[in-house]
Amino acid sequence: MKARLQEILKENRHDPKTDTLLFTMPEEESYRSQIGKWTDYFSDPVTNRGLLYGHIKNPWEIEKLTAFFAWTAWASVANRPGKTYSYTNNFPYDPLVGNTLTVGAILWSALSLIFLLAGTAAVLFAFGRFSFLGWKGKKEHIHPRMLPGMTTESQKATIKYFVIVAMLFLAQTLVGGATAHYRADPGSFYGIDFARFVPSNLFRTWHLQLAILWIAMAYIAGGLFLSVGLGGEEPKGQARGVNVLFVALVLVTLGSLLGEMLGVFQVLEDLWFWFGHQGWEYLDLGRAWQILLVIGFLLWLFLVIRGVGTARKDPKEGEISTLFILTAAAIPFLYLPAMFFGSTTHYTVVDVWRFWIIHLWVEGFFELFVTTMIAVLFYRLGMVTLQTATRVIYLDAILFLGAGIIGTGHHWYWTGQTNVTVAFSAMFSALEVVPLTLLTLDAWDFIKLSKSKCDICGREISIPHRWTFYFMMAVGFWNFVGAGIFGFLINLPVVSYFEVGTILTPNHGHSAMMGVFGMFAISFLVFSVRQVLEDDEWSRIEKYIRTSFWGLNIGLALMVIMNLFPAGVLQFLDVLQNGYWHARGPEFMNRGLAILMEWLRMPADLIFIIAGVVPIVIASLKAYGFVRKRSPKIYVSTS
Ligand code: HEM
Ligand SMILES: [Fe+2]
Repeated sequence: MKARLQEILKENRHDPKTDTLLFTMPEEESYRSQIGKWTDYFSDPVTNRGLLYGHIKNPWEIEKLTAFFAWTAWASVANRPGKTYSYTNNFPYDPLVGNTLTVGAILWSALSLIFLLAGTAAVLFAFGRFSFLGWKGKKEHIHPRMLPGMTTESQKATIKYFVIVAMLFLAQTLVGGATAHYRADPGSFYGIDFARFVPSNLFRTWHLQLAILWIAMAYIAGGLFLSVGLGGEEPKGQARGVNVLFVALVLVTLGSLLGEMLGVFQVLEDLWFWFGHQGWEYLDLGRAWQILLVIGFLLWLFLVIRGVGTARKDPKEGEISTLFILTAAAIPFLYLPAMFFGSTTHYTVVDVWRFWIIHLWVEGFFELFVTTMIAVLFYRLGMVTLQTATRVIYLDAILFLGAGIIGTGHHWYWTGQTNVTVAFSAMFSALEVVPLTLLTLDAWDFIKLSKSKCDICGREISIPHRWTFYFMMAVGFWNFVGAGIFGFLINLPVVSYFEVGTILTPNHGHSAMMGVFGMFAISFLVFSVRQVLEDDEWSRIEKYIRTSFWGLNIGLALMVIMNLFPAGVLQFLDVLQNGYWHARGPEFMNRGLAILMEWLRMPADLIFIIAGVVPIVIASLKAYGFVRKRSPKIYVSTS
């Protein structure tokens, strides 16, 4: 019976000549019965975990959607022409229908381990052989060129960005808490029938979009701040440019969030794609907002280039200045593939471009930009030589991009691409762990650096900027744990096959995204705030920053330990034991233990929000207050 079932489902009845797909009688019957199932599913927020009542009103749309589901089921089971595995390389796992791991997935998983070990060995050897590699402290004296309290008008103007950063961060964590609540108790929000007003898919969209927005906003502000620090001179009208960009970014942020809400409530009619919700995770915002965002990024790049100014032509500092600009330019440039698809483009094509952006940002160019910002900052604070700073940038560019660009394919193992994609991407993405392992080797140099001091002025750099460095050390820690360990955990094709879409993904997503780019964003907030304040002003807000450092790190660690990791392992086990459909459905999610795990998250979330995020909001508001209150000071050149 089982063999016959597999035979029927695995046979490919698509006729390419007429482009028709023939269903067998049982398949047709199943399709018809599914229409009723999905009609019920989309009408009740308790079963669908918090969507709007009667989310899909038009029966014709339910039919089309069911047809789409039927097509995905067919594509994931029926063999590709001339092959013994399906279009999705047999994903998802369901032994009943004959969907099990392909030979290629097993082979390339095994071989990718060789890449990882050989890559690690090569880099460790290079570090042993060339003792100058990494974050080595200065040998000569470099006088700090950025001292706290000595800032320009445009640098001060970035403080309001950080106020918005903190507010968006707070909003993100609050809607995140609400999203978690929907998982634990989809029926009601402490007795209130919330799904009428804010359905779970809107909360979820906002949660992800806000994460990108506040982190990006902090980078934008940090980049503007550093560009002038690197250039050494305030270009005319820079502060005005920074203010104009601020208004534009706030408008795009609020507009896109509102558009997503109108989109979910389906009131935009034909304009949904342009102003509403595109429906693509991470690229949810309407096309018009995306275009405005790119324009904003370009304006930012223009301001950064102005800020760096003539330093680009400087015989000594020209190289590092150019590297700074190039790594910054990659960010708007890499967002362009978001425009490469329209509202009716095929799902598999969209997912190629979508991960092109997400992956190349987080696993390539953001990592590089972070390195560059830290290198420039350390150089300007007189902690490393120009040579060390430049060398670290080049080394990281080789390591991050060499592995990360082709590694993009680890998001395409099961999206209709060939075995060649699985092979290359498994090998190269395994290599991505190499630079992250190096971080542990670098860690001690890094800690030593934060204690170095300028002997001439006798002022310890680590004292004014202690918390910036602490947050940067947190970046290093989470980069290894969140990206390195938890990323690698789900990276081998043989693991990914069972894992994709389980809680082990947000386990990695939270620890890597918040841990690395979130912590780095906060480190820049802290740096900029410290830099613009006088010592006595700073002493009045330092306690908030200290609390936040512990609140964010302990909160994030608890989130991982109490909920994401154990719940992820539990769900992973369920995939192995009962098939993917079981672990992703109410059969698993409504089990007492799974629900309990969701509730266990709550203390962690509360620590994160109350002790981590709220103090950052207070500190940034106070800093803004100090800067506003001051009588306009004479502009001090940083050079
Ligand atoms: C700081 C660096 C990184 C960040 C911020 C990050 C972030 C993320 C996020 C947010 C997702 C979820 C995407 C989704 O929901 O569809 C994800 C997925 C994934 N990441 Fe990373 N990541 C980083 C580094 C890495 C590294 C170094 C590896 C492996 C070597 C890796 C492997 C993966 C894999 C395989 C997935 C897909 C999981 C799935 O679809 O279930 N990541 N990453
Ligand atoms: Fe990735």
